[in-house]
Amino acid sequence: AFPVYASVGLSPFGPSGVLLPSDAGPFLERYYSTPVEPGDLWIVTLPKCGTTWTQEMVWLIQNDCDYEGAQCLLCPDRYHFLEIPALMAPHVRDEIHQGKNPVSKRLMFSPIEERPKPWFVKTHLPLHYCPPALLERGKVIYVARNPKDVCVSYFNHLLMFKERRPDMNMDEFAQMFMDGEVSLLPFFPHVLEAWKERNNPNMLFLFFEDMKRDLRGAIQRVADFLEKPLTEKQLDGLESHLHFSSMKKNPWVNKNMTYAYSALTAEELAAENAASKLEFMRKGETGDWRNHFSQKTSDEMDAWIERELAGTDLKFVTEL
Ligand code: A3P
Repeated sequence: AFPVYASVGLSPFGPSGVLLPSDAGPFLERYYSTPVEPGDLWIVTLPKCGTTWTQEMVWLIQNDCDYEGAQCLLCPDRYHFLEIPALMAPHVRDEIHQGKNPVSKRLMFSPIEERPKPWFVKTHLPLHYCPPALLERGKVIYVARNPKDVCVSYFNHLLMFKERRPDMNMDEFAQMFMDGEVSLLPFFPHVLEAWKERNNPNMLFLFFEDMKRDLRGAIQRVADFLEKPLTEKQLDGLESHLHFSSMKKNPWVNKNMTYAYSALTAEELAAENAASKLEFMRKGETGDWRNHFSQKTSDEMDAWIERELAGTDLKFVTEL
């Protein structure tokens, strides 16, 4: 039923269904009991919604614009990626465990308890799989992006990480995306669950499209939320550092250049991606779906979005 993932055994998990490898259950139980203390910061997103962009922003604001520090540590070293072992196909997990890729091993299997406090956590799990005390004790930044651009970005991502057939076409994938047959989906329950918490004082709900439209304003909102006042000069610096053109050149956030959550070494993956011209920092645009969807798929997606959002006050911007 799941052509892309047939080889990794993905199946809907539990009654509140998120698509994960079929052996993810025990991992999820462990993540659910992650302790949360005041000061801990969690970035919660669906894949491809601007997670890395937000990670860089949040880390720098919280660490008083320590650009040097941000360049000693890869982005994934600065954040604990909560569910990464659970996302792996079991055979990839085993290969990494056996030491095929020591960087991935360290990034994937180091326990969160070994990290310095306060914890910076990244997760793609929906809120109901996060620790129940999260919104009482920690702070959550949730980032959402319109599903049409997420779908295109995800399509590229899965090829880059060798998780889909190279000959699959975009329209075929879009159908699976809408049906929730892609890792960590379905899309709308994830977003709407967070949207309900948008007025919780410990939650900041951001849209990728707002960050595109007004990056400075988004930085200011994050700084206010974290209670870290910024000078105009610091705002200038962050705005320039976080611009897409700078992020694209920044090896510390560009995953394809630095490491992979795969059994391949960073060098092997970078070489393959360079050969196939795949990039993690791909386009960074809103509305790129226009270059990828057929009219039929675009219309079907619009109808799907309208259906899923009926009766809610959540709105997505698909073009700027
Ligand atoms: P595209 O594939 O559309 O280019 P995530 O980090 O959640 O996986 O999201 C990755 C997406 O965010 C990619 O989208 C990437 O290019 C985009 N992105 C990352 N940094 C960005 C920035 N500074 N400005 C705009 N988009 C950015």
